[in-house]
Amino acid sequence: MCRHVAVSTRDLARDLPKLTVRCKQRKGATMPTRPYVIDELISAKTIAARVEALAKDIHDAFDGTDKLVVVGLLRGSFVFIADLVREIDLPVEVDFIEASSYGNSTESSREVRILKDLRGAIHHRDVLVVEDIVDTGYTLKHVVGLLKARRPARLKTIALLDKPSRREVDIQADWTGFEIPDEFVVGYGIDFAQRNRNLPYIGKVRFTDDE
Ligand code: IMP
Repeated sequence: MCRHVAVSTRDLARDLPKLTVRCKQRKGATMPTRPYVIDELISAKTIAARVEALAKDIHDAFDGTDKLVVVGLLRGSFVFIADLVREIDLPVEVDFIEASSYGNSTESSREVRILKDLRGAIHHRDVLVVEDIVDTGYTLKHVVGLLKARRPARLKTIALLDKPSRREVDIQADWTGFEIPDEFVVGYGIDFAQRNRNLPYIGKVRFTDDE
């Protein structure tokens, strides 16, 4: 039984309008309220090949660096960053930042808040920011602005996925894994209401009560 009913946060509200009512459960977890299946969009094998190619480009761009600070945007980038750093043959340090694009839990907002900042300093460092999906672009733009203000030596960005048709602000990652259409996707670290991050592939959510 639902004790609280809330309109979902921005990405779900935006991409899945009918899905926006969620039941907030006693332990704080949120659950989707409609049945769905996941259709594979990008296989694990295709992702692995692309990650390898991207790592080569990154290696070439940062060749000679004394240290590359690889900054993952939590939480969706955690699988991507884990695979990516293992393919980058450079001195690497890993750090994380967590941003929330949601002003609050009941209405859409373009406000980006930093929930967890980096542990280390990036002044005069080479930095690679790793994002899971660039959608409207607000999150990446905000994080890049914030980190550039700390005057790194070089700062570049990589996104596993890009939904160019959704863009609202002028930002483009330096490297993109795959451009995808305006679909809600999960897997390879990316969630739907905290579910499905552990899928080895990327799939799109399809609601079965529509069919
Ligand atoms: P942006 O600020 O609109 O670019 O939002 C980017 C963030 O929205 C990503 O880091 C994801 O957390 C989330 N997001 C956007 N599209 C999807 C999706 O299809 N599945 C899951 N999360 C998504």
